[in-house]
Amino acid sequence: MDITISGKPLSEISSDVLIIPVFESDTPTGGALTVLDELTNGLVTSVFASGEVKGKRDYAILLHTNSANHLKRLLFYGAGKAESFTPLSLQRLAAAAVRKLSGNNFASLAFLLTAHLENETRVQALAEGVMLGAIKGNLYHTDNDDSQRLSHLEFICESADAGQFIQAIETAKVMAEAVNFARHLTYEPGNVITPTRLAEHAAEMAAREGLACTLIDESEMKELGMGALLGVSRGSEEPAKLIVLRHEPAGADPSQLIALVGKGITFDSGGISIKPASGMEEMKNDMGGGAAVIGAMQIIARLKPNVRVIGLIAASENMPSGRAYKPGDVLRSLSGKTIEVVNTDAEGRLVLADALTYAVNQGATQIIDAATLTGACVVALGDVRAAVMGTDQQLIDGLLSAGETCGEPLWQLPANKEYGDLIRSDIADVKNSGGRLAGAITAGMFLKMFAGNVAWAHLDIAGPVWYEDEKPFMAKGATGFGTRLMASYVLSKPEY
Ligand code: BES
Ligand code: MN
Ligand code: ZN
Repeated sequence: MDITISGKPLSEISSDVLIIPVFESDTPTGGALTVLDELTNGLVTSVFASGEVKGKRDYAILLHTNSANHLKRLLFYGAGKAESFTPLSLQRLAAAAVRKLSGNNFASLAFLLTAHLENETRVQALAEGVMLGAIKGNLYHTDNDDSQRLSHLEFICESADAGQFIQAIETAKVMAEAVNFARHLTYEPGNVITPTRLAEHAAEMAAREGLACTLIDESEMKELGMGALLGVSRGSEEPAKLIVLRHEPAGADPSQLIALVGKGITFDSGGISIKPASGMEEMKNDMGGGAAVIGAMQIIARLKPNVRVIGLIAASENMPSGRAYKPGDVLRSLSGKTIEVVNTDAEGRLVLADALTYAVNQGATQIIDAATLTGACVVALGDVRAAVMGTDQQLIDGLLSAGETCGEPLWQLPANKEYGDLIRSDIADVKNSGGRLAGAITAGMFLKMFAGNVAWAHLDIAGPVWYEDEKPFMAKGATGFGTRLMASYVLSKPEY
């Protein structure tokens, strides 16, 4: 999508629709609204006077201007109370306004930046919102016509100098393109995004954006001793891949390395501990954490923070078959720790175990993992927040705060060692499920065993990675949750 920003006169706007955000306290007097009123022969004052424009959140009205100039339609979009407005509410407003218009196949939209909105954070939030709102999951509708997509957006400044927002729009593009890339990968079905295809997408991105990429295949995994990842993959005809992406800026401190580790289960049937049929189709999204790492690495490649970052995606299917791993099996992980498999559906923690050890062995000084790890987390936090837990409160606090600002909010779960008692095994060092109690936490405690002494935080994104129903601001399905969060954290660190 091509986005421009200017202070051009309202009479010269030739986009299909001019979107005007309206706050509850707004009146149709002064500034751009007065100009608009004049251009439309009093349309603005009359809709305000009739009470049809209230400024209530998500209350929208679309009008034809019938005016002689280029301005064809106005969308007044309710923004709620100006006082309680956050960048997140703005992002959602922009996305919701675009979604409201999406049935009409408008190719170009204009967005009026009224005085409240004229600052960099707000412009970035709006531009991100527009790009996120423009995408939905009907990838395989054969009547999907690309030529009818929204392709041009112009921001019109009411009073400020447009030039100061160019950087904010560029940043928004970098963020939203990466989130939409992650969403696209997550929407794709399991027969299209196999571990091999996921690896190819990551490698293509890396080549395009200037990251180093290596793919570890099953024979190399065997040599290395990645028995946990290989155990999960055994039941599948599709070979597993450990995808390694590297951002290594020349001037960065060689003693620091941030690792982003993603669960890349391209389809989770549950394996021999098979899942119920109903809803199983959604388990194509079990690579959402991996997609978020790929997206975050794209942002990092473009915005170039001066720190070394390694992205690891443990990609595999989890399938039942005559060769599949079974409950009771004991796996020897890359770390040397042995794992009793009590449930083959707790596969995410197994593939992550080896990826975490790989990160430790690479010299990571901070590790963040993102995974659609547990149904228990969805029960606890729904699709509103992801869970975070870990071993380093500074890292966790950094992630909590990055989440609030980028609109991917988190909630912290405890990691007291008592929870670790639930995953003790009689036969091996640990078992892969602690049963129903504290399911999201015991999954995290399992991962903790493989992070060594490295500062580590785990994001359970199973809830917010996928919306069961559409929202005013987002299509049903893949959200790309985690992408901006991890990238924003890396970009926000003060040390480099
Ligand atoms: N991918 C699932 C977690 C999941 C479930 C995500 C529902 C989104 C919606 C994960 O691999 C899984 O199956 N976890 C099990 C763990 C259990 C067997 C200990 C779960 O949550 O039921
Ligand atoms: Mn599972
Ligand atoms: Zn899974």
